[in-house]
Amino acid sequence: MVRICVAGGTGQAGREVVRQALVLGHAVAVLSRNPPPPGAREGYDGAAYFCADVTTGEGLPEALAGADVVVDCLEARTGKALRRYAAGGALLLGEAAAAGVARAVQLSIVNCDQSALAYYRSKADKERVYARSTLETRTVRATQFHSLVAGVFDAGSHVGLVPVIKGARFQTISPADVASALLEAALGPPSGESHALQTVGGPEVLSMGSLAGAWKRITGARGLVTELPLPGSTGRFLREGKNLAPEQRYGHATFEAWLANRLENL
Ligand SMILES: NC(=O)c1ccc[n+]([C@@H]2O[C@H](COP(=O)([O-])OP(=O)(O)OC[C@H]3O[C@@H](n4cnc5c(N)ncnc54)[C@H](OP(=O)(O)O)[C@@H]3O)[C@@H](O)[C@H]2O)c1
Repeated sequence: MVRICVAGGTGQAGREVVRQALVLGHAVAVLSRNPPPPGAREGYDGAAYFCADVTTGEGLPEALAGADVVVDCLEARTGKALRRYAAGGALLLGEAAAAGVARAVQLSIVNCDQSALAYYRSKADKERVYARSTLETRTVRATQFHSLVAGVFDAGSHVGLVPVIKGARFQTISPADVASALLEAALGPPSGESHALQTVGGPEVLSMGSLAGAWKRITGARGLVTELPLPGSTGRFLREGKNLAPEQRYGHATFEAWLANRLENL
C-alpha cells in the first residue's frame, strides 16, 4: 500500500487517479481549494480530502503529511492563476520534499514547449520546475481529452454550429486512460533517471470533421458542421499535428466509446 497525495484530485483527471488508486488499495489524500464536504457525492469514500492552495501554500503540509508519492493534476487556465501556475508547482514540490515525499508525477500536455500560447507556456515552465526538483520526478504529457473536443462541439451547437478547425486532427484520450498512466508512473520501479518524460496519446488519430460527425450521430444534437480556419500559431500547431503522438497510442477508450458511456451515465 502506497500513500498517494493527489493534487487537484477533484478535477477531471485527478478524480480518476483517486478512483483507480483506491481500487488498487492505496491510501489517498486529495488536495484542492474547494474539497467536497464530508459525505458529499462528489467525494470518494476512503479518500481524505484537504483544503489547500498551491499558490499560497496554505494547507499543503497537512495534505502532504505521510505521503510517499504526489500525483499533480492541477490546472490553471487564465489570469493570475495561469501566471502563478509554475510557481505553484515549485511550492508544491518544496513542501513535498519537506514532508519526505519520494517521487512526484505531474500531468502535462504533448509538445507544450512548442507552442507560443500563454497557456502552453505555463505548462512548459512547470515542466522545467519539475526537471529542476531535488525529488525524483516524472512528467506525463497527454494528448487532448475527449471532453475538450466534445466541449467545443457542445458550445457551438448552442448557436447552431458544430465548429471544425480546418486541417486539425486530434488523438483524444479519456481521463481514465490518463489516470492509469499517471499511476504507473507514480507506482512503478525507479527508472534510474531523476527526471523522466513520457507521452501518452489516445487510441485513434481522427480529423476534427470525423469527430464532429461521430459527436452528432451519438448525441443526436443539432448544428451545422462548419469548417473554420484558425489563423496564428495555434492553428499552425494543430495543422502541423503537434498535438498528436501517433507513436504513443496508450489509451484504449475511443472518442465514440467515451461519448456513449458519458451519455449512458447522464
Ligand atoms: N483537458 C485536456 O484536454 C488536457 C489534455 C492534456 C493534459 N491536460 C492537463 O491535465 C491537467 C488536469 O486537467 P483537468 O481538466 O483534469 O483539470 P480540472 O478538471 O480543471 O481540475 C483542476 C484541479 O486542480 C485544482 N486546483 C486548481 N487550482 C488550485 C490551487 N491553486 N490549489 C489547489 N488546487 C487547485 C482544482 O480544484 P479547486 O478548483 O477546488 O482548487 C481541481 O481539483 C492540467 O494540467 C491540464 O493541462 C489537459
